[in-house]
Amino acid sequence: MANDNKPVLRSQDWFGRKDKLGFIHRSWMKSEGFPHEVFDGRPVIGICNSWSELTNCNAHLRQVAEAVKRGVWAAGGFPLEFPTISLGEPFMRPTTMMFRNLMAMDVEESIRANPIDGVVLLCGCDKTTPAQIMGAASADLPSIVVPGGPMLKGRWKNEEIGSGTDVWRFDEERRAGRLSEGEFCDIESCMSRSAGHCMTMGTASTMTSLAEALGLTLTGCANIPAPDSRRYEIAHRSGQRIVEMVHEDLKISKILNARSVDNAIRVDMAIGGSTNAVIHLKAIANRIGLDLPLARFDEISRQVPVILNVKPSGKYLMEDVYYAGGVPAVMKEILGLLDGDALTCTGKSIAENVADAEVHDRDVIRTLDNPIQAGGGTIVLHGNLCPNGAVLKTSAAERHLLQHEGRAVVFENHEDLMNRLDDPDLDVDETCVLVLRNAGPIGGPGMPEVGNMSLPKKVLEKGVRDMLRISDARMSGTSYGAVVLHVSPEAAVGGPLAAVRNGDRIRLDTENRRLDVLIDEHEMNRRLREWQAPEPHYDRGYGRLFLENVLQADEGCDFGFLKGRGAKGKLALPF
Ligand code: FES
Repeated sequence: MANDNKPVLRSQDWFGRKDKLGFIHRSWMKSEGFPHEVFDGRPVIGICNSWSELTNCNAHLRQVAEAVKRGVWAAGGFPLEFPTISLGEPFMRPTTMMFRNLMAMDVEESIRANPIDGVVLLCGCDKTTPAQIMGAASADLPSIVVPGGPMLKGRWKNEEIGSGTDVWRFDEERRAGRLSEGEFCDIESCMSRSAGHCMTMGTASTMTSLAEALGLTLTGCANIPAPDSRRYEIAHRSGQRIVEMVHEDLKISKILNARSVDNAIRVDMAIGGSTNAVIHLKAIANRIGLDLPLARFDEISRQVPVILNVKPSGKYLMEDVYYAGGVPAVMKEILGLLDGDALTCTGKSIAENVADAEVHDRDVIRTLDNPIQAGGGTIVLHGNLCPNGAVLKTSAAERHLLQHEGRAVVFENHEDLMNRLDDPDLDVDETCVLVLRNAGPIGGPGMPEVGNMSLPKKVLEKGVRDMLRISDARMSGTSYGAVVLHVSPEAAVGGPLAAVRNGDRIRLDTENRRLDVLIDEHEMNRRLREWQAPEPHYDRGYGRLFLENVLQADEGCDFGFLKGRGAKGKLALPF
């Protein structure tokens, strides 16, 4: 039992006391049937669970939590599972991104307020991983991430099909009249056929892979398919390891730092990760007080080739990535470009963790000499259309559009896009540039994943599959195309995107990382003087909190008041 004045563990300030408060804390916990000896000073491990039946990708996390608990008990800890808000990507409106910060706050305060010494973060679907890491980074206890893992591969008529990526493709086939409604419906069941998150390199697989690159998961954890028994084995081992981490006082602040974030960006480029990773890594960096300019992503992008052949940049699916060696094999392949000494939750360095990793399929995980693409997957653009930056996933775009000039066809917002896209009178062809505005953090609201605008039907019918598209929105990591995103500042705060008019010439020059509308400064300023801010989407509640505090895309879209870690709140005693 701990000394009354100086608890060995944080939880002992609740459970180790000999006074009335100690009685209350133990007694009420005993109502769950725990014996007295669990309060003997062993580490209390919180299992932060984003399980929800409204988040299908995380719906199996109660079973994963049971495996974690077995590991915690086996290592001499005391596991206590708790829920947080969960963010189901396909369902939440207007977009899960509106609620990432709410979840991060929930995670942070649930950790801080409760009698726990270490935390296991169970995540999967897109925003659940960064939200948990952001919250845990600010709470700063020993923390380990256990993702739920990707789904098994989809298969339709003996064709392998991937989450999201093939939905966009089949939808275009349907709209172009080459796929029947019956076939389209049949594909639904064939695509999502097991537990787990999307099994392309969408945002979920990107962020869980980056959690491993950051050093926050056990080695090889990120890519094990959800239904695979090894998912439960590694959950068990993660439960064991978090107990050791508490004894070692291996807080998340000892792992998350400039070195590990740099490693994560390098791995992001190597795997052709989702453009959303830029926003989430920036937000995580803000939580640890790390200045991470967008320029750093572009610098690294020029150094690290895409070596993972996975959709939407390549051919395979996450199950193949796991069989080919997963994140450890990718990291070993690019080890010379990483900071191999960076510490991880295993207590060892990245280099030690991946020392025995092997590549089992050279078409899935390529060498640096034979990459999918020479430069990194995501580049950062600047110019008079995006003075604070924009991003483009070049690895998922058609090459001929990477240097392109065309006539702007402007949509005021997503509703306008939906109403007019397939209008036969829309003056558009495949050389035009589709521009969508008022879809950013404030204008969206919440910066929805609508930047990968569908192509106009009249263009699709010609067999065209890609056009240059520009917006202040995001796009699903499973998407593809020449899609410039995250234009910052957004139109809804008077960014230059608000000034673009139908017929303006727009030039994308990826070689020089430029995105410009070809009007002079005087004309740009004149138009912006005439601009009027749109009505705010919310005047109360969380929506208002969001609109008043969200940072722009280039700053990570966190709330300004959430930067940094720690809390100065007074410890109030409830009785
Ligand atoms: Fe959850 Fe894609 S919908 S990961």
